[in-house]
Amino acid sequence: MVSVNRSDVLHNNHAWIGSAGAASHDLRSDTMTTPTASMLAAVQNCSLLDDVWMEDTTTVDLESHCATLTGKEAGLFVLSGTMGNQLGLRTLLTQPPHGVLCDHRSHIVKYEAGGVSFLTGALVKAVVPKNGVYLTLEDVKSNAYLDDDVHTCPTRVISLENTLNGMIMPLEEVRRISAFAREHGIKMHCDGARLWEVSASGAGSLVDFAACFDTVTLCFSKGLGAPIGSILVGSKEAIKHARWVRKSIGGGLRQPGVITAAARVAVDETFGKGPNGEGGLLRNTHTLAQEVAKMWTDLGGKLICPVHTNMIWVDLDDAQCPPAIFEELGKNVGLKLFGNRLVLHYQIYENRDSVVPKLAEVFRAVFENKGRGDGTVPEKGDGEGSMYRSQK
Ligand SMILES: Cc1ncc(COP(=O)(O)O)c(C=O)c1O
Repeated sequence: MVSVNRSDVLHNNHAWIGSAGAASHDLRSDTMTTPTASMLAAVQNCSLLDDVWMEDTTTVDLESHCATLTGKEAGLFVLSGTMGNQLGLRTLLTQPPHGVLCDHRSHIVKYEAGGVSFLTGALVKAVVPKNGVYLTLEDVKSNAYLDDDVHTCPTRVISLENTLNGMIMPLEEVRRISAFAREHGIKMHCDGARLWEVSASGAGSLVDFAACFDTVTLCFSKGLGAPIGSILVGSKEAIKHARWVRKSIGGGLRQPGVITAAARVAVDETFGKGPNGEGGLLRNTHTLAQEVAKMWTDLGGKLICPVHTNMIWVDLDDAQCPPAIFEELGKNVGLKLFGNRLVLHYQIYENRDSVVPKLAEVFRAVFENKGRGDGTVPEKGDGEGSMYRSQK
């Protein structure tokens, strides 16, 4: 059995200690969550067979479990959320001219290195939602190209991200868009990297949401805390094709049981056993996110987006606090912060007694210093912006 010495682990960075490890005070992203002792135990007991030959039972079991959880016929383990999205889109698109419609803030357009254009040749129509939170059917209708006029690039896929920046796209709206898409022969892909969070919030089950889509990506290595991996689910036919494409880009894996075993523990223990995250750990982070957001607004702070799940976007411009100063204030009290986004995860929740007072200290310092600087707000310009671009 696994026995772990905490100080060894912290000094050597082989931290299979979950919430006591490196992510305990890291609010930069839920991708920072680190694996647990029960994941290590599962890795020690996994199958070590070839998955290109589809013989690795730990991997096959994970794929079929995720297919069942989402009500789909089949699943395909992939190395990352990006790989899942790109394989999903590549599978649903057949040949140009073809277009993908999505929210202008989508990960597939902003943070996947332009993969959609070079892997599919699709024209991306990135739409600004009228309500500022999520795309509605009306946004979709006024931006989709449905005709076969020779000048048009027809919309063949609608790709929806849920959550997007931590915000939930309600089930009813997803259903309306999906019905419209089906009526017009348009395929639906979901970047559900954090669909687990949507479901755990009570907004609808994984099955309810997945039923609206042809393919869905879900990530194990964000809030669920697995070290590596995501899954693409869909019909048997779609997944068979995606497996083929995965092979073509070098994603066929030999003995992936060592990573899929940890992913299965992440699903069972962090998300929970049922399709609504029953018995899981995600819901608590949503409540904590509300409390942290309130701490900020009680001091007079503004939020950039509503807080629906585990992310809080604070308005640092309004607080006259450059992101670099915010990060520095965090560093001074032992918190890792990144830009104006605070991401909570279950390893933060489990360290809340230490993290929340430190955050309160940072927030107080921001507002005590407000108006004391030279008033310089970092240059932003009118472009889309990227959370990874330097905001010093
Ligand atoms: C919404 C969303 N989709 C997809 C991804 C891509 O996941 P990965 O980093 O595993 O490629 C991310 C990564 O943070 C994400 O936030």
